[in-house]
Amino acid sequence: MKKVVIFNGSPRMDGNIATILNIIARGARDKGAEVKFYTLFKMKFMACLSCFSCRLNPDCAINDELRAALQHVKDADSIVVGSPIYMMQVTGPVKNMYDRFFPLMDTEFKPRFGTKKMVTVYSQGMEDPHMFDSYYKYTAAMFPSYGFDLIDNIVFTNANDPESADRNRELKIRAYEAGKRLAM
Ligand SMILES: Cc1cc2nc3c(=O)[nH]c(=O)nc-3n(C[C@H](O)[C@H](O)[C@H](O)COP(=O)(O)O)c2cc1C
Repeated sequence: MKKVVIFNGSPRMDGNIATILNIIARGARDKGAEVKFYTLFKMKFMACLSCFSCRLNPDCAINDELRAALQHVKDADSIVVGSPIYMMQVTGPVKNMYDRFFPLMDTEFKPRFGTKKMVTVYSQGMEDPHMFDSYYKYTAAMFPSYGFDLIDNIVFTNANDPESADRNRELKIRAYEAGKRLAM
């Protein structure tokens, strides 16, 4: 059974990112995967403290809710990260999480825990789906060091209405298909 770990980086519990991630989860479960779903805005976790202990030891020195989630990421076959765009970037908790993923790479910037399929999901208020392309590409540049193999990047636009993703049939089909691919 494939293991999929999903992180929601939106503060809106029933917003567009949650809608899209829930559909990805359904696609993965329908293909027999075990799915763990984390909502970062409900979790208590620190930002990276730069202690550098993970350069020697593959466990994070900070013992909090994110470290427990990180253990599942190490073990996972696939990972999904969803974030709204705030000030042209991911939300603060998503950035803090990516920093805390540092234990996933070794001192030579190689993955310590093998390769995992990855899907990223972004929502943005702006209409142009290519407006933040360079940012998405820049952010993805670090994924291979963590062992993440990006198989899809879903960008949802005009997202200020929290129910708009739910009205978008094409988007929902794409999300469901992405979930299925993560479980194969
Ligand atoms: C503080 C803040 C900053 C934002 N900055 C941007 C931005 O730089 N570009 C953009 O297109 N949308 C921006 N937005 C709009 C959000 O991206 C949009 O409302 C969100 O993607 C909706 O996703 P959700 O329903 O999961 O919350 C911002 C929203 C907030 C609250």
